[in-house]
Amino acid sequence: MSLLNHPCVSGCASGISGGDGLSACGSGHATGVERLKSPFRQRRSPPSSGRVIRVENLNYSYPDGRQALRGISFAIPRGETVGLIGPNGAGKSTLLLHLNGLLGQPHADGRITINGLEVQPSSLPEIRRRVGLLFQDPDDQLFSTTVAEDVAFGPRQLALAEAEVTRRIEDSLAEVELGGFGSRVPHHLSLGEKKRVALAGVLACRPEVLLFDEPTANFDPRGRREFIALCRRLPATKLIASHDLEMILALCGRVLVLDEGRLVADGGSIAILGDEPLMLRHGLEKPHSLFHAHPHGLRA
Ligand SMILES: Nc1ncnc2c1ncn2[C@@H]1O[C@H](COP(=O)(O)OP(=O)(O)OP(=O)(O)O)[C@@H](O)[C@H]1O
Ligand SMILES: [Mg+2]
Repeated sequence: MSLLNHPCVSGCASGISGGDGLSACGSGHATGVERLKSPFRQRRSPPSSGRVIRVENLNYSYPDGRQALRGISFAIPRGETVGLIGPNGAGKSTLLLHLNGLLGQPHADGRITINGLEVQPSSLPEIRRRVGLLFQDPDDQLFSTTVAEDVAFGPRQLALAEAEVTRRIEDSLAEVELGGFGSRVPHHLSLGEKKRVALAGVLACRPEVLLFDEPTANFDPRGRREFIALCRRLPATKLIASHDLEMILALCGRVLVLDEGRLVADGGSIAILGDEPLMLRHGLEKPHSLFHAHPHGLRA
C-alpha cells in the first residue's frame, strides 16, 4: 500500500469513553432506518460537546460501478463507542475507509465531517491526524522491515521528537502485549500478531477517533479479552466494525446495522442485537449471551 494510505497519519486525544447513543442516533436523513430503544438500562452518554463523526447522505460506488454505500447518515458524539455490524459485503469496511478519507471523489457524494472538519482532499493531512484506522487485513497496514519501524511511522509523520517516538513505540507495543517484538519482521508474524502490530501503530498516534475493522479477528481468547479491556481504557470516539457480536455487546452501547450499503438500523445494542427477527433479516444472529445472561451483566 502507499504511505498515503497508512492510517496512522493521525494524532490528538480527547473524549470520555463509554455510553449509549440512543439519544444521539443519526441525523435523520436516512429513510427506513429502524431506531430501537433498549428495554434494558444501558450506560448513558456522557455530556456531549458535539458530534465528532457526522455522515450525511453518503453514497459511494467503486470505480467498477458497484454501489457500496447508499444514503448513509448518522452522527456519533464525542467519546461514544459504536458498533458497526452487517453481513459480508454490507459496506462496513467501505464506510470506515471513507471516514479516514481513503475513498471519495469522483465516485462519492454526501458529506463527512470529523469534529467539524469536512473530509475532502485539502483536509486529508489533518483528518488523518484526527482519525486512526485499523484495517481489516493487517497486510494492508504493515510495510516496514521491522515492527518498531512500522509502529514509528505514524508518530514520525507527526514530527514528534525521536525520544517521544521511541517512548510511543514501547508503550504501544506493551499495550498490545508485544513487548520485545520491536526487531521482528512484520511479515514473519502470525496473523494475530500482525493485527496487534497494526493496532499498536494506530494507538501510537493517539488519534481522537479510532476506527477498528474486525479488531478481534484472529485474536486468541486472551488477546480478545485484553483488547476489550484496552478499548475500555481508550478515551477516543470509536467505531468498531465486527462480526464478533459478543465483543460489540461488551463495548458498545449503540450499534449501526448496514445491509447492501444501507443503514437499516441504529439504536441501543441490546435492543438491536436482541431483536432476533431483525438480526435474521440481515444475515445476522442474536448473540448467545442474549439468550441466557441477565442483560445488565453484559455491560460491566
Ligand atoms: N475495490 C473494490 N472494487 C469493487 N467492489 C468492491 C471493492 N471493495 C469492495 N467492494 C464491494 O463493495 C461491497 C462492500 O464491501 P465491504 O468490504 O465494504 O463489505 P464489508 O461489510 O466490510 O464485508 P465483510 O463483512 O466481508 O468485511 C461488496 O459488495 C464488495 O464486493
Ligand atoms: Mg469488511
